[in-house]
Order: sequence, then structure tokens, then C-alpha cells
Amino acid sequence: MSHAPTGILASRHQQIRQAIVGRSLDALVVTSLPNITYLTNFSGSSAAVVMTEDRILFFTDSRYHTTVTERQAGPCACPGFELVVVEGSYDATVTAHLARLGARQIGFEAAHLTVSRHEWIASTLTAQSPGSKLVATEGVVEVGRVVKDAYEVGVLREAAQRLSDVATAAFADVRTGLTEREVAGSIDRRIREAGFERPAFETIVASGPNSALPHARPTERKLTEGDLVVLDFGGVYDSYCVDLTRTVAVGRASARSREVHAAVLSAHDAAVAAVVPGQSRFAIDAAARARLEAAGMADAFGHGTGHGLGIEIHEDPRIVKRRPDVDTRGEQVALGMVFTIEPGAYFPGWGGVRIEDDVLVTKGGVETLTRVTTELLEL
Ligand code: GLY
Ligand code: MN
Ligand code: MN
Repeated sequence: MSHAPTGILASRHQQIRQAIVGRSLDALVVTSLPNITYLTNFSGSSAAVVMTEDRILFFTDSRYHTTVTERQAGPCACPGFELVVVEGSYDATVTAHLARLGARQIGFEAAHLTVSRHEWIASTLTAQSPGSKLVATEGVVEVGRVVKDAYEVGVLREAAQRLSDVATAAFADVRTGLTEREVAGSIDRRIREAGFERPAFETIVASGPNSALPHARPTERKLTEGDLVVLDFGGVYDSYCVDLTRTVAVGRASARSREVHAAVLSAHDAAVAAVVPGQSRFAIDAAARARLEAAGMADAFGHGTGHGLGIEIHEDPRIVKRRPDVDTRGEQVALGMVFTIEPGAYFPGWGGVRIEDDVLVTKGGVETLTRVTTELLEL
């Protein structure tokens, strides 16, 4: 498994430090594990980070001590790394170090700290370090993660190629008489054989009427002649997620299946064609929606057109209709962003179609990272 080289981590740190200084903070407590991975290469299940203008304290427990120490001896060492091995509770250890640092304005990640943990840390800090204060922050690290650096683009490009190969091979798994679970099991095996650490989410194999459920779970239903089958799967490769969907027919596709597939493909192609640096993510979503509306299928497309990909399977930017309560960050897509384009049309009781690719915003517009035929295959 490869990790971001030290120089890449250093430039990520520099960006976060600018944000820390810009917000007049003395320290930022990072509790989101994906954000910790981004800053340190750590990919275990328990850690915390305290970043200041010139230090990075990394807290983990004895389970990860050896792994972390070994990585620090190699080319992917986290610069400035000060390891603190937690023996009791994480929050008590972090709080004691914050008090010792003399940090007064202490940022925390409001989206990633529970109310009870916040209350405990705040009251303990008040006792140990009067005058220090917890300050809510939003998206300090995520704002950096949304634009992929050269290392991340390389990993995502490689991962998308591997996932495309999985898709092409997986078409052979679609056969009359096999159950959705059996097909999903074969795809999961292929994902691991292709070098992925694990599937990025529970693989979706949704056949016949089940294909009308956008997030169906595979069942014991047997694939049947004439079915549409949605195959939606992803993999985690060197900590980065890629995601792909194709909808295929078992045997000959009906005229209606062809019509729905053609409308979804047209929406997919329109959205991909709309991707260019500076474009509104809401406009990309609208480009897909307009094609389905023209086909009389506007009501059949309930979810967003896409989502960012990276250390998490669903991250910014969200390619959606504007939602005033949550769509508060950056409207325009920018060079280096990676996200899915995945329109669909779903008709309860009949079935549905989704086509999903992963795209990179380039200087010239867009590069489709996943490369698999988008024709309606009859298998
Ligand atoms: N099934 C997850 C996704 O495509 O977003
Ligand atoms: Mn997706
Ligand atoms: Mn997907």
C-alpha cells in the first residue's frame, strides 16, 4: 500500500496552517479520521491530531504504535510528527496536551465531535487552562481535500482503471439463474483480486423490479431473462475510493428498457460535457436533469447527479440541486476535483437504470477516469 510522500504532506500542512492563522487560532484539534489520514497517512481506526502553527501532535494508542513508527522511518513520513501514545482516554490526553501547549483559541471540527465529547473537553480545559476556549470550525481540512493534489490524482487514476477492468470482467458474472447475492459475491472477489483493499461500500446488484431501488441490497432473487440489472460497486485503493455503475440486460432488452437506458445515458453524457473548471456544480446537475425531463422522466430521477470521491466514498463536491441548508461551500468546480456523474431513472414495480463514471476536472474540461462501455449490454 502506498502513501502520500513527505513533501505532499508538507504542502497540505502549510495550507491548514494558513487557515489556522487566518482564523486566529492557536491550535486545531482534528478528530475526523479521513482528515487525519489526509494530514498524516494514518489509516487505522483511532487517532487524533493537534495542529499548531509549527507543530503536529499525533495521538494514537499502542495498537498502532509499531505501524506508525515504521512509516515514520520511510519516504512517507509525516513531517514534524510528534507521536503521543494514548494510554488512558483520548480526550483526556489531548486536553492535557492542549493545556500544556498554552493554546487559548482552540479550533475543533464541529461536524466531527459529539456534543458530549465537546462538553467534557470544554469543562476540563476550563479547569486545567482557564482562559482557553473551544472554537467551532467547519471544513478546514475538507476544503483542502476537495481539490486533489498530484499524488491523489495518480492514485485515483490507477484505481479507476482497475475498477473499470473489474467491471468489464464482471459482465461475465451476469447469467440467468444466478442470485443477486451470488453476482455481488463474484464482483467483491474481483475487487480484491484487482488489488483493492476492500469494496468501498456494499456492492449493489439489483435485478428486475429491484433495480428501481437506487440503493438496493443484493437479495436471493434469481436473475431472469428480460431483467435490467444495476451493478454498482466501488473499491478502496491506497486509501482512495472509486465508484462505478453500469446497467445491463439479461438476454434481450425490451423497447422500454432501451428507451430508459438511452435517456439516462443522454443525461450522463450531458452532465460530463458540462464539466469545465469554473462551472457551477448545480449547473452540471441541471444538465443531467434537463435531458431526463425532455424524455418525460424528470420525476424518475430523485437523487443527486454525483458526489466527490477521495478518502471517503461520498465527499465534496456534491453535484446536486441547490439545497440552501447544507450547500454552503464552493459552488464552482475546479481543476483537480474528482467526482462521480451518476444519473438514474427509477420506476417502482418495473425497474431502473443508473450509469456512473468518475471524472477529473482538467484544464481543458474533463477526463473520464473510469473507462467501460456505456452501451446497453445484452448478456
Ligand atoms: N452506491 C453508492 C454510490 O454510487 O454513490
Ligand atoms: Mn456514487
Ligand atoms: Mn456507485
